[in-house]
Order: sequence, then structure tokens, then C-alpha cells
Amino acid sequence: MGTRGAAVAASMATAAGPPPVAASSSAATVTAGAGGAGVAWDDGTIVYAGPTDGLPWAPTIGTPGVGCIVPGFVDCHVHLPFFGWRDDEFEARLRGVSYRELHGQDGGIFRSSRMLREAGDEEVLAFCRPLLDEMLAHGTTALELKTGYGLGIEEELRQARLARRLAEGAAQTCSATLLACHAVPEGWAREDWVRAACEELIPRAAAEGLVDAVDIYVEDIAFTLGDLGAVAAAASAAGLPLRVHADQLGHTGAAARAAELGARSADHLNHTDASGADAIAAAGTVAVLLPASTFFLRAKPADVAALRSAGVAIAVATDFNPGTSPVCSMPEAIAMASTVYGLAPLEALTAATANPAHVLGLGDRLGTLAPGMRADLLLLDAPRFAAVPYRPGHDPVVATIVGGEIVAERAG
Ligand code: NIG
Ligand code: FE
Repeated sequence: MGTRGAAVAASMATAAGPPPVAASSSAATVTAGAGGAGVAWDDGTIVYAGPTDGLPWAPTIGTPGVGCIVPGFVDCHVHLPFFGWRDDEFEARLRGVSYRELHGQDGGIFRSSRMLREAGDEEVLAFCRPLLDEMLAHGTTALELKTGYGLGIEEELRQARLARRLAEGAAQTCSATLLACHAVPEGWAREDWVRAACEELIPRAAAEGLVDAVDIYVEDIAFTLGDLGAVAAAASAAGLPLRVHADQLGHTGAAARAAELGARSADHLNHTDASGADAIAAAGTVAVLLPASTFFLRAKPADVAALRSAGVAIAVATDFNPGTSPVCSMPEAIAMASTVYGLAPLEALTAATANPAHVLGLGDRLGTLAPGMRADLLLLDAPRFAAVPYRPGHDPVVATIVGGEIVAERAG
């Protein structure tokens, strides 16, 4: 017999699963019996989720009739590990300098790359660990860690190893992604870098077991649709799923091409058109929306109406990075997803739990509250999940539970 526990609250909300679940507010169910709802676990695994009167043992956390229980948030698009902030670039953008211009002036991704190279391993880890704790306090119980600031073969591998070290010490479940093509490294021709990424970087990262997926940034300032095809082939040869930064600053058709190539997800999608939405729906590729970077860059929001009518499964993530989204709070990303993109609260819940768990390849274990799933759950301070998008800036998380352990709890 393992360690038993149970949480109670006024209500519970969870996606119905299994993911990916197409965008629709009916995709989430709310259970609120007369005595409220509860979740029980044994040895880190959920054994019961439903009305309180069916709980197999007494609650160990929560107050009957108070708050709401939801699955832990899964943040499936995160650019950690990085080192250092770029707040002066934010101020420059407010003066009218564009993100593209900063990139061209050796700022942006190139600057984060320099800062990462100049920092020692321990310094990088010491910078990142409190950020993971901050995410935990805001309810993130699983997340992606991405490379992409290495911009060199050895430097990308170093960043992937740092991601694994960060994961080892984290309370959350972490999945590592090799963002093999993020910017063309200084001194390289684009074609040469793509060839090196495909022939050396991706195979070495896979052979060392450093990463769980491969990503590429397709944009006029970065890589092309042809490069995407090459990276997709290399990822497939290495047995790794493909993720794609698609149609963020402009329309390249990357979302549609990602779908044709069987990508697990197409991310950003600010400029994806209706035919791209149809393509990703047909392929079962998840649309990862990143409302915080949309807000921060004052960019055109993705066409959620087109995604919804195509029947696409949607995920919402923070895109946490020092350039386009210094936001690591999932409640904040959810609030923006509702107001900027028009997601209904329960649609946003599915998009922040079950669907991103699928994107990270963890949908069979994480992201929904049901017997057999890992006991990763949150106790929120409001009885309805709608309070999360309704109150941007408020942290609704009273307690974060990972594998049945309380790993963060609000004081008082
Ligand atoms: O997802 N689009 C490219 N990459 C990041 C930004 C990286 C940076 O500016 O450091 C993004 O928005
Ligand atoms: Fe990103």
C-alpha cells in the first residue's frame, strides 16, 4: 500500500479525454455533487475522481464546499533553459523598434545565445530553478524545456544537457525539445546549418537520449519550408516527434506543411489561414496558441474561429522566453487566451491540461483527472474555473499537488 491522500472542493473540472480533444466548451466536465467533488490517490496515482460522497477515504487537503479542483497545468511551449532578461529590448520596442529589427541588429535570439554561452552551467541552472518554482506555484505540473539558444552543435547539445539536469531537480515532469533551427548561427550559411543540424545535431541529441522532440522556427528571418522538410526527415529518422514554430510573424504556410509532415503540433499560428487550419485538423496536429507572445508583441491573434470550425484540437502555452513572452504563469496565459482569442473558460482548461499533455507525449498519464492517471492536480480558490480567465493577474492556485505530494501551497 502506498501513500494515500484525497482532496475535496466545491467542484471539479477536467477534460473528458482522451486527448487530443477538439476545441469545444463541452469537452470539459464539471462534477459538483451536493457535497462537492473530490479526488483520491494512492501511491501517486488517482484511484477516484467524482462526487465527495464516493471518496474511498477521508480528505487530506481542501475544505468541503470551497474552491475547485482541476488537473495540473501542462505548459507545452517553454524556451527554458535561458540565461538573462532582455527588458531593454522591450523598452526599445515601445519606442517603435520592431522585433525583426532587434533580431537583425544582433539582439533577440542572438543576444540570448551570447548570454547563455557566457554563463557557466551552474549559473544557468541557478537562474532557471527559481523560475521553475514560480511556475509550480502558478500550477504548472508538467512542462517543455527547449533548446534553441545554443546556435552551434556543441552549444545546442550543452543546452539540452542543461535541460535534462534542470528536469532532474524539478518537481514537475519535464519533456525536452531540440529547437534545432531557431536562427542561422553567425558565420554559417543557412543551408550548411540545416545540413549540420540534420546530419549531426539531431542524430547526436537522439543517440545521447537528450531530447523527446525536435522543433524548427519557420519564418522569413529564420528557416524555410524546404528546411522544415529536411528537419522533419531527420527527426523521423531519429524516432522523434516534430514540433513547428509556424506562421508567427507572417504567413509562410508552415502550419499546413507541418500537418502534411505529421507534426505533433504547430505553434503560434498568428497568420495561419483557413486552409492551414483545415490541414492541421485533418492531420490531428495540435494547434498550440501562445497568447502571451501575441499580447507582448501586439501581434495579430491566431484565427481561432477558423481553427474551431475546422475541428482542431487547441493547446495554450506560455512561450516563456526573454524576448517575446516573459510570462511563465499558466493562469495568465489562460486569461489572455480567453480575452485575446475568445476561448471559453472550459475550452481553455482543456487547452491547458489534456491537449498539451498529448503534445508532450504524456497524454496517457497526465492532463486529466481519472483513475489511473498521475495525481497531478490543483486546488483553486474559486468554485468555478471561469474565475481563472476572469481575474487576470490574480494567482488562483491554493495548492499544487504532483504525484500525490503537495509541492507548493499558498501561505495563510
Ligand atoms: O517563440 N519565435 C521564435 N522564438 C521565440 C522567441 C525567442 C526570443 O526572442 O528569444 C518565440 O516567440
Ligand atoms: Fe516559441
